[in-house]
Amino acid sequence: MIEIHNIKKEYNRGTTKVEALKGVSFSIEDGDMVALMGASGCGKSTLLSLIGGLDKSTSGSIIIDKENISELDARKLAGFRRAKAGFVFQQFHLIPTLSVVENVMLPLLPIKMKKAECYRIAMEVIEKVGLQTREKHLPGELSGGEQQRVAIARALVNKPGIILADEPTGDLDSKTGANILHLLADLNKKEKRTIIIATHDNKIGEIAKRKVVLEDGAVVSDTRREELRD
Ligand SMILES: Nc1ncnc2c1ncn2[C@@H]1O[C@H](COP(=O)(O)OP(=O)(O)OP(=O)(O)O)[C@@H](O)[C@H]1O
Ligand SMILES: [Mg+2]
Repeated sequence: MIEIHNIKKEYNRGTTKVEALKGVSFSIEDGDMVALMGASGCGKSTLLSLIGGLDKSTSGSIIIDKENISELDARKLAGFRRAKAGFVFQQFHLIPTLSVVENVMLPLLPIKMKKAECYRIAMEVIEKVGLQTREKHLPGELSGGEQQRVAIARALVNKPGIILADEPTGDLDSKTGANILHLLADLNKKEKRTIIIATHDNKIGEIAKRKVVLEDGAVVSDTRREELRD
């Protein structure tokens, strides 16, 4: 369960302050699939990075599984991310000089685990995203959709309960984007992972169980597709 309480986020831009989030509150049940939508600059990425513990809010609190992550110091926050959150970014952020399987293994490195075991776990998720046989390739040898699948595998490798995806289909053609989307929907359905996707893509809005729309740093609508309630 993720509880977001009156979250505000200000950025300093030179001498002016930008209020990116102006008091956002809502909760996300475990196993939900939420599309965060709204115009460019409305605060989607900001909110995603706060929920994932990549950044700190100016005020308010985010409570995840009864832990107030807004109060954690940097070290504890890193521990929280490792244990609970997986990120998928628009630009994939793969390391170009590492192979597919090495990229996927990266989040396991801080954990004391035998290399062979890391490899086995990484191959398991690589299979899940349908990239077995490509594990020795470099990211540059893969298509955009395949690279995004590697990024999703990497986000899954530490078995996070929460997957945060920022415009995961943004740079992909519509067919490839639809495949990525179905992969995420499948993970939500079969493995009950909580998935939060920041997006402009209306197709995601249609496939998600819940759609939260932000406008200028505030929630302006929150709708659920009743037929998808499980
Ligand atoms: N590091 C930063 N420093 C200053 N201002 C920032 C920073 N990051 C974001 N902002 C500002 O905060 C507001 C919200 O930005 P955010 O990136 O969350 O929007 P978004 O909804 O993800 O937009 P997009 O759809 O274009 O990705 C914007 O006005 C943006 O310019
Ligand atoms: Mg964004």
